[in-house]
Amino acid sequence: MRKIVIAGNWKMNKTVAESVKLAGEVVAAARDIKHVVVAIAPTHLALAKVAEVVKGSNVKLAAQDVHWENQGAFTGKVSADMLKEIGVEYVIIGHSEQRSYFGETDETVNKKVRKVLSLAMKPIVCIGETLTERKEGRLESVLTTQVNGAYAGLSADDALSTVIAYEPVWAIGTGVTASDDEAQEAHAFVRGLLAKLYGDSVAQSISIQYGGSMKPENAAGLLAQKDIDGGLIGGAALKADSFLGIIAPGEALSK
Ligand code: 13P
Repeated sequence: MRKIVIAGNWKMNKTVAESVKLAGEVVAAARDIKHVVVAIAPTHLALAKVAEVVKGSNVKLAAQDVHWENQGAFTGKVSADMLKEIGVEYVIIGHSEQRSYFGETDETVNKKVRKVLSLAMKPIVCIGETLTERKEGRLESVLTTQVNGAYAGLSADDALSTVIAYEPVWAIGTGVTASDDEAQEAHAFVRGLLAKLYGDSVAQSISIQYGGSMKPENAAGLLAQKDIDGGLIGGAALKADSFLGIIAPGEALSK
């Protein structure tokens, strides 16, 4: 059965010292969590220090991005080997902020996903439509292009090591969340896309997170939906108590 995976994407927030402090608080808060997979994604700069804090705990280390090449003249970038060496297990790929501000495409998403899988880490593949795309009735075509692009050339075994994060762009950082039904509908559609690529049994085994203004107040309703298997959390992950307020209903649903 697929797992509930709840990951905190800290984005460009927290200094190294602040990251170490928050990571310690998350480790303490998540001490008794047994069923939900909990991960935190600090900035690249803080990863090595946070790795020391989460070591031996049930909190996994995630990175916010990666480059697909092994090494070389790629100023400002970090390779998958570098992430692997310090204990990163999950890598967020194709976040809408990367897509809209930094030129990420479905092709670069695919290259990053392949590289991360080749080193036995798990990509968190982000997809999602803008408000205009939704209003114009293009939700399904956008998600289809993004999923087919990200998974191009991946085997079923590869696909089983991935997590998808469905993040409607209009819900990110806006306080506006997709309703339980809107989110469930999109998740079911995405699972259908995976089923077309890999068959139903593989599709049923891949966790699909929801992301976009998820918080303690709406987490239980979203996580109770049949095809919602966790969350990718921005703002509410920057405090241990609100992050736990999202993890706790997930844990209750997993038992
Ligand atoms: P918010 O939870 O702040 O809306 O951010 C969601 C997100 O983009 C997580 O990757």
